[in-house]
Amino acid sequence: MRYDFDTPIDRRETASIKWDFSKRFTGLENLIPLWVADMDFPACSEVIEALKHRADHGVFGYTLEPESYYQAVIDWMKRHHGWEVRRGWMLSAPGVVPSLNLALSAYSQPGDGVIIQPPVYYPFKESIINNSRRVEENPLILEGDRYTMDFDQLEELIDGRTRLLILCSPHNPVARVWLKEELEHLVEICLRHNIVILSDEIHHDLILEGSRHIPTASLSRQAAGITVTLTSATKTFNLAGLGCSIVIASDKQLRGRYRCTQASIWSGIANALSAVATETAYRCGESWLAQVLEYVQENYAFLVSYLAERLPEARVFPLEGTYLAWIGLRALGLSDEELKERILKQARVRLDDGPMFGTGGEGFQRINLACPRSTLNKALEAMVQVLGSA
Ligand SMILES: Cc1ncc(COP(=O)(O)O)c(C=O)c1O
Repeated sequence: MRYDFDTPIDRRETASIKWDFSKRFTGLENLIPLWVADMDFPACSEVIEALKHRADHGVFGYTLEPESYYQAVIDWMKRHHGWEVRRGWMLSAPGVVPSLNLALSAYSQPGDGVIIQPPVYYPFKESIINNSRRVEENPLILEGDRYTMDFDQLEELIDGRTRLLILCSPHNPVARVWLKEELEHLVEICLRHNIVILSDEIHHDLILEGSRHIPTASLSRQAAGITVTLTSATKTFNLAGLGCSIVIASDKQLRGRYRCTQASIWSGIANALSAVATETAYRCGESWLAQVLEYVQENYAFLVSYLAERLPEARVFPLEGTYLAWIGLRALGLSDEELKERILKQARVRLDDGPMFGTGGEGFQRINLACPRSTLNKALEAMVQVLGSA
């Protein structure tokens, strides 16, 4: 079937963080919310039907994912990423961020160093701090309109207490899909220094034309031996409010340590609805996803041409993966406070401020393109009005 992503769906009064909680966070009403990473699109119709069917049963007792769920994940990984995952490697979790926190406990001690590559998804840094680990920054390098990893600085950064590296692959917010050579180089360094890679691949299916996602653990046996993959169908299929994710570790020791930590907080019971939604999405969601990607690609082209014409100082970075575009506004000569004042308070558009993502985020904004084109158009019109005269 052909989905309609053009017609806006009113998400107000659904307890949506993006739509209903902006007022609590900002004190402002009637914002156009293009911040938090969920889509303003309806879910795949088969998923909606499967949820209705499950809801109609009416009993929602304790649940574990059935074997058919794991098989759906295995089939998806093989079909979409050429990765042969085995059933025994997988553990279930209520979300990527919760499992990231468990992994920090499982593989390091308070005071140990954990590397991140800012600007990057901000819960990485918060999780490290909340777990009393040490944040070690390996900032991305910006050359022209391309971000790359700084391998020389990484080698210098690692010390005797560096235990983990949190990789964002694809990278939120700079929208890079890492190349095989880049991942291989990273793995080679981590192998040499005995560093475990927590590979957050939640955006793995949101890959735009010309790019290809490579699961870190699929690179080689050695890579798999030091990698714990954190992934989910929730970002791909817009199911974030259902909460569900998968931890994949082929290394027995790494898997065992994660499982013990998980058992220590009695986490691991599935959500009856999200298990159904994930399995159905992986079995039936291919065409829906292809249409979403097509729509996001067109929204991105719209954004690029709109800003090129009306706000040429803005620099839109290539969107290789995710539906979150990274916009450089440094050429406007405004401070981050001034940018926020104009975009949020004057234009009434809520984006994610670059500095939230840490080092290197100053002068940038992240915009969510998974919305109807008319919403994007409205937001850009309002933004250009307040920034055009900067
Ligand atoms: C890189 C990254 N990891 C994790 C998450 C959130 O994962 P979850 O909702 O499963 O905790 C997001 C959400 O935007 C994300 O961008």
